[in-house]
Amino acid sequence: DKGGWPSFMAKEVSEEPEAVANTLRGRIHDGVIRIPELDGLDELFLGIDRVIVIACGTAAYAGMVGKYALEQWTRLPVDVELAHEFRYRDPVIGASTLVVSISQSGETMDTLMAVKYAREQGAKTVSICNTQGATIPRESDAIVYTHAGPEVAVASTKAFVAQITALYLLALHVGRVRGTVSAATAEELARELESVPAKISRILETEQSRIEQFAHWMADTRSVLFLGRHVGYPIALEGALKLKELAYIHAEGFAAGELKHGPIALIEPGQPVFVIVPSPRESALLHAKVVSNIQEIRARGARVIVVAEEGDAAVLPFADEVLRIPLAGPMFEPLLAVVPLHIFAMGLSTAKGLDVDQPRNLAKSVTVE
Ligand code: BG6
Repeated sequence: DKGGWPSFMAKEVSEEPEAVANTLRGRIHDGVIRIPELDGLDELFLGIDRVIVIACGTAAYAGMVGKYALEQWTRLPVDVELAHEFRYRDPVIGASTLVVSISQSGETMDTLMAVKYAREQGAKTVSICNTQGATIPRESDAIVYTHAGPEVAVASTKAFVAQITALYLLALHVGRVRGTVSAATAEELARELESVPAKISRILETEQSRIEQFAHWMADTRSVLFLGRHVGYPIALEGALKLKELAYIHAEGFAAGELKHGPIALIEPGQPVFVIVPSPRESALLHAKVVSNIQEIRARGARVIVVAEEGDAAVLPFADEVLRIPLAGPMFEPLLAVVPLHIFAMGLSTAKGLDVDQPRNLAKSVTVE
């Protein structure tokens, strides 16, 4: 039931605030994080010396965001791997490796095979999954459910923000168990995280119709690039994937720092480029670097669309469009920055008259390898 929305995706994007709130629910008490599913697993988390995150598609981009959080708060080395690439080589893993799988459906065969393989090699496994009783969680030592609710549209939206939320909770939990995050820091971060759903709602209220209008004007666009740094980088990749999936146009995400090592050759007058701008308050250095990347592409004629924090005036002289997101902690920006990109991809698909819920050639859950 679309509940009055024009598509399941429109409904699911509107549910992004609840997807985050429901994934946090019952796991933060007065600023203290406790994930009941992980009770009794302290030994497991104390016995690991590295983390490998495995997933496919959008879930893998959630995993890339999770890498920053896990490294920051657990001080464990973290790698993110596409499940199918991980499975068919000879990865160096063992009893002190924690393999975190991420899957909305819990049935993606590539991810399932990688989890089984990791277990056979003696690794510990935690599954982040949105579907109760699915196969991947059954094959794992522990489960952290995302509570995004059923996701019907083939391309993932609300499950993505729920996956990132679950990864933040997992990272803070493991950090507390291992003593790499202080109680005070965890509390501050937990409270910041709790403020995210209302901020997503604000983006939907203030920016959605403007972004849809803008997508409409861009209906004939044949190629769009996305740039980001740090946690903005996986968001650039996700923005590009959504455009491919929903609007069937060429789209690519790049790490902004990589621009001068190749992608800048693609910039010609009129080329639309989305840039995810990090908060100037949180990292003046990263912010300045991204602003200088924007100047470089603008000088070559790019049409620059920035996703930037409210009040960030430094981007104004170089941007053709500014999509605003509220202030968040540095780690939590992805949960906000992805929302305009989901709206944009959905809007462009609709403007082209395409089926946003059922894109051609794609399946919601790919149960073959
Ligand atoms: C794809 C879906 O084939 O599977 C994507 O079309 C999804 O939207 C990916 O991100 C992974 O699915 P899951 O269920 O493992 O998260």
